[in-house]
Amino acid sequence: MKQVYVGMSADMIHPGHLNIIHEAVKLGSVTVGVLTDAAIASYKRLPYLTYEQRAEIVSNIKGVDRVVPQTTLDYVPNLRELKPDYVVHGDDWKEGVQQKTRQRIIEVMAEWGGKVIDIPYTQGISSTAMNQRLKEIGTTPEIRMKRLRRLIGAKKIVRILESHSGLTGLIIENTSVEVNGKKEEFDGMWASSLTDSTSKGKPDIEAVDITTRLHDLNDALEVTTKPVIFDGDTGGKVEHFVFTVRTLERLGISAVIIEDKVGLKQNSLFGTDAVQTQDTIEGFSAKIRAGKNAQITEDFMIIARVESLIAGKPVEDALERAHAYVAAGADGIMIHSKNKDGQDIKEFCQRFRATDVETPIVAVPTTYNQFTEDELASWGINVVIYANHMLRAAYPAMVDCARSILTHQRSLEASEQYCMPIKEILTLIPGTKK
Ligand code: SPV
Ligand code: MG
Repeated sequence: MKQVYVGMSADMIHPGHLNIIHEAVKLGSVTVGVLTDAAIASYKRLPYLTYEQRAEIVSNIKGVDRVVPQTTLDYVPNLRELKPDYVVHGDDWKEGVQQKTRQRIIEVMAEWGGKVIDIPYTQGISSTAMNQRLKEIGTTPEIRMKRLRRLIGAKKIVRILESHSGLTGLIIENTSVEVNGKKEEFDGMWASSLTDSTSKGKPDIEAVDITTRLHDLNDALEVTTKPVIFDGDTGGKVEHFVFTVRTLERLGISAVIIEDKVGLKQNSLFGTDAVQTQDTIEGFSAKIRAGKNAQITEDFMIIARVESLIAGKPVEDALERAHAYVAAGADGIMIHSKNKDGQDIKEFCQRFRATDVETPIVAVPTTYNQFTEDELASWGINVVIYANHMLRAAYPAMVDCARSILTHQRSLEASEQYCMPIKEILTLIPGTKK
């Protein structure tokens, strides 16, 4: 019996997939290589279903004899191992970015006399349209919550942008650009204490209470599907933090980051210009432990934020604390600094990774913003948070617009220079009637 290989993501199975399998069955025994989360995330967004779910679906399709994981976008490692007689694929890959992939597979298959078979693409079914439909359907708290851990497992670095409103949430949900043929987008949202407070005209000192912040975060949750990391400030009193954890979990927030400070919280970017008093290791560890004991799901993450470098202490102190917090149950470490050269963060990450290769590291490169995501990933960082940029971009634009109206005593100049067209704002929000 001839062996036939079909590679697929299988996130949204449609008749086009079934047709390919149907055609493959005519050629021999069918093995489907289901792409793992990491393989898919290397070129597009994470699939909605987990690998296990997708593999289960495919293995139950009539005609599929076995399912194997395909751990890279590249078919070749699986092909070299299985040496199939045929690879079957939709003929859409004869054009566009997949052309090279196809060519390479043809060459490799020729090594053992195997062939590539292109099946006429099933017209009238668009994965893009199905994706759009899925976004409209939305998500559930459980699916959204799990997504952060899946992203950390699947991606070299997870990219998070600050959101403080429904509108900024929509920007994060929908903005994408193509770079070198690859679609780039944000993986999730950061509910920043700085921008939540600032957008209310209040200082970032835990004066805006959690209930209010969560009430407003709901606006973004209503119109997005991507995961949220919540800035929990100091976490407050241990007795209060346990309630916060449960509330966040119920809403489908993926993670809370709490910082090891006590007393009146000041924004970290003041550095030593403000009094930054750190908790004891024992005190903060007890808070982490209480939070971990309070959570109900296995998916929710409590990430410990080490403020040693912010408080002017050495990397040594940060390392001691980070390891202690992990021992207390922290699911990740956020290391923060306001230094511009990034060398303290780099040193921390490399030394931390020397003994802990597992625990995710989160970084907020606001001041050391010269490093690319690839560089940060090479230090051992798993999650990068752009912590305040939506608000910092909007504010100067709004002030300029206000000043222009005052200067010209009419809005003509402001509209032309600083404002989007009325037609655009009217149809900006998905679901608006046209
Ligand atoms: C925030 O965005 O509120 C943060 C990060 O906590 S920072 O402002 O850099 O402290
Ligand atoms: Mg904050």
